[in-house]
Amino acid sequence: MKPLGLLLVGLLVINQSIGVDKKKFKTCSQSGFCKRLRDFKPERSQYVADFTSAKINENYVLVDVNTVDLKSEQKAVLDKYVLKISSLADSTFRVEMQEVEPLYGRYTPMLTLDGAPKPDTLTEVSKSSDKLVLENSKGHRVEVYADPLKIEFLDLEGETAVVMNENSQLLVEVPRERKEHEVFTETFNSYHDSRPRGNEAVSLDIGFPEAYQVYGIPEHTDKLNLATTTSGDPYRLFNMDVFEYELDSRMGLYGAVPVMYAHSPKRTVGVFWHNAAETWVDVVNSADTNVVSSIVNLVTGGSGRRVDARFLSEANAIDVFVLMGDTPGDAFRQYTTLTGVAPLPPKFSLGYHQCRWNYVDENDVRGVDENFDVHDIPVDVIWLDIEYTQGKKYFTWDYSKFPRPLEMVGNLTAKGRKMVIIVDTHIKREKGYFVHEELTEKGFYITDKDGKDYEGWCWPGPSSYIDFHKPEATKYYTELYRFDRFPGTTKDVHFWNDMNEPSVFNSAEVTMPRDCRHFKESAPEGATGLDSYWENRHVHNEYGNFHLRGTYQGMLDRTDGKYRTFLLTRAVFSGTQRFAAVWTGDNMAEWSHLAASVPMCLSLGVAGISFCGADIGGFFKYPDAELMTRWYQAGAYQPFYRAHSHIETKRREPWLYDEASMKLQREALRRRYTLIDFWYTLFYEHTRDGLPVMRPLFQEFPKEEAVFTIDDQYLLGNKLLVRPVTASKARSVPVYLPGKDTGTVWYDVDTYQRHLANGYIDQPVNIAKIPVYQRGGTIIARKERVRRASSLMADDPYTLIVALDSDNTAVGTIYIDDGETFEFEKSNAYIYGKFEFNGNELSYSFIDPASTYPSRSWLERVVVVGLRAPPRAARLQQAARSDPLHMTLHEGNGVLVVRKPGATMTEPWKIQFSY
Ligand SMILES: *[C@@H]1O[C@H](CO)[C@@H](O)[C@H](O)[C@H]1NC(C)=O
Repeated sequence: MKPLGLLLVGLLVINQSIGVDKKKFKTCSQSGFCKRLRDFKPERSQYVADFTSAKINENYVLVDVNTVDLKSEQKAVLDKYVLKISSLADSTFRVEMQEVEPLYGRYTPMLTLDGAPKPDTLTEVSKSSDKLVLENSKGHRVEVYADPLKIEFLDLEGETAVVMNENSQLLVEVPRERKEHEVFTETFNSYHDSRPRGNEAVSLDIGFPEAYQVYGIPEHTDKLNLATTTSGDPYRLFNMDVFEYELDSRMGLYGAVPVMYAHSPKRTVGVFWHNAAETWVDVVNSADTNVVSSIVNLVTGGSGRRVDARFLSEANAIDVFVLMGDTPGDAFRQYTTLTGVAPLPPKFSLGYHQCRWNYVDENDVRGVDENFDVHDIPVDVIWLDIEYTQGKKYFTWDYSKFPRPLEMVGNLTAKGRKMVIIVDTHIKREKGYFVHEELTEKGFYITDKDGKDYEGWCWPGPSSYIDFHKPEATKYYTELYRFDRFPGTTKDVHFWNDMNEPSVFNSAEVTMPRDCRHFKESAPEGATGLDSYWENRHVHNEYGNFHLRGTYQGMLDRTDGKYRTFLLTRAVFSGTQRFAAVWTGDNMAEWSHLAASVPMCLSLGVAGISFCGADIGGFFKYPDAELMTRWYQAGAYQPFYRAHSHIETKRREPWLYDEASMKLQREALRRRYTLIDFWYTLFYEHTRDGLPVMRPLFQEFPKEEAVFTIDDQYLLGNKLLVRPVTASKARSVPVYLPGKDTGTVWYDVDTYQRHLANGYIDQPVNIAKIPVYQRGGTIIARKERVRRASSLMADDPYTLIVALDSDNTAVGTIYIDDGETFEFEKSNAYIYGKFEFNGNELSYSFIDPASTYPSRSWLERVVVVGLRAPPRAARLQQAARSDPLHMTLHEGNGVLVVRKPGATMTEPWKIQFSY
């Protein structure tokens, strides 16, 4: 092991200067199954369904499918499969197919789904030997063709929206026992993979007639709308620690969320490829390639557009959810209905996070914390990276640097701030380290291909990895987060799980060998062979979720479920949103990486993961003052707002820049805090509607073709349009204002300048300008008195910004609770309020009248923008009060400011205007 460590240091140094080392990561042609199957495209599919055997139940149908030898006269049956098509609630179908009796069983992800999906009815419309037609309760039809097998999903107008196996690329490789002399092993960069089960890949083509673009399948660094992959590699979904990743790439990264959406002005649909194994996805957009068929389609009345996708996985069953939409929001919600939403975050976590690898000791932490106050900059959380531990042993403190962790944390919480500390996935193999000794003794480690505890190399040197598939191992792990097990932590210490792909420095593709063994709960009684365990290849992309679930549960348990928690992760899979926020990993202090943060978070957002951010300033390298300032400005309008930096980079806290830059950064941070309740309300609404907090334009403007490929601007909820400046020395930026057809108006949030939507405007910018626009027809609540942490602003008053649409109306919402407990769930201790302006009256009422919270916040100011005719007088009505209010007019009488209404937020009120 020692020489390897040295070797590693050498590699890191070399890498530092040249960016990503592509040789460490497989291309499709270096990945056995991808090379074997990418070109698989028979003239005719071998798969044939037999409807005589079809068993239709209330919610699903089971159909026998055989592969037949197309060369033999009698079409001899080769292998037998069973196809299951289920109808699920909310216009969703599920298609599963595998061998009738798989030799070793096939793995189904265990943590992706937020409980068993709710069934919907499935009825048989018609059945012949060639074709079976089924229908759900909404009227979506599924047409299954027998020979060759093809499955079409029809929208409510009877048009095919999704079609499977039209290109004959359905394939389920059937594992066979290895014959003597047969070679199953594969080698990559001198790493051997024993592949004891041989070939077990699956493949399926999925077509989207009429689609203009497809989106989703994060995590990659290219655009939000997915590219045609005919030249180069497919998109790869395989969780890996990619050092100094490159941009505009389809390479795998830390996360994999195999959900894809296809969008056209007509409809949006989605498919969720439910598979935790390494997956490659090819995309062919007809607009890029197929001129001839486009013309044919045009003649026959179609849009001439179509996108074809093809999913290829190393193992596991064919298991696909089909989301029938039909709007983008419907499809996004259908996905979170299956996989869950982010729990309501504690409010502090929507504030600003100050992180670095590393704040080196207690004095450093105290100094950083104090400097925020000295410079009057708000911050909610100070973070500690791996150096706080004793020799990278998590659940311990290095007491030489952090002798009094409880006092350190107490000093932060006394100011209303919190701490987040890191706990990585690897466990140091060191004699005397209690975690290692207990895990070893209990047999809770993942084992290697021979059944011995697997030993890899990570930050601590020799490391092992917990087999979270063992329920007792996860339970053991959750208990490590108890305050008595981890002294120095309190309810105000939250966590960050990193390196959870998992990262293994001395293994193929910097991750766990695929033939490592995980516990198989469903193993047949007494099994000892290949059916007695899963290999990492089966569960790989889901491993991070197992770790996160353990941490999340542990954090809840330590306060008996009283307090909400914050957890950050780097590895991502479907369902991660239920446990953790996500950041985009080790980016760079470059303008291009600042720009990439937008499409990366948009892509994660539509894949269920709203709580997303990128390291402010960039992890590697040093951002100059302009880049750092622009990054603070952009980050202020992204969900997770954290600065972070590599240990070898120059310190870069805001006060270390020149005075002018520091003030600009402070101004950006203060803007975040003025909108803290807006963010909190967005995240609350996400828990109710499952929609992304940070939205692509096409979600709100699905018929406006020009926005389908826009990913350098986005919406927060349906209210704010954000177009961060991501280029040096910008003097103007093009901003697309969508909604021309519906007469949408947009207001510059700095000047209240009114823009009627009409495509691109040229927005002049100086270094202080952040182009943000409020949509006409919306109301946003702000808190204008920014304090040193969000918790200290809880009782502060509100300013409402009422931005009128062309009908002179606007609506908005506000969510208020204690910011940290589950009392909102347990005892209805919250306010979910609605603001409505109809020209004559601004009213505040409760959406959930049964709930209540003793908020001390009050209404300090109302700003109405876009007025056509200013009112003469205003009067507040609340309970017994009826008071005349003071008003002033600005900006050529288009902006009305109502001063100090003084209404409370605990009871409904009205402000009546007379003209
Ligand atoms: C906590 O704050 C007090 C008062 O500023 C200071 O004297 C003490 O050193 C701090 N403790 C730690 C551990 O930082």
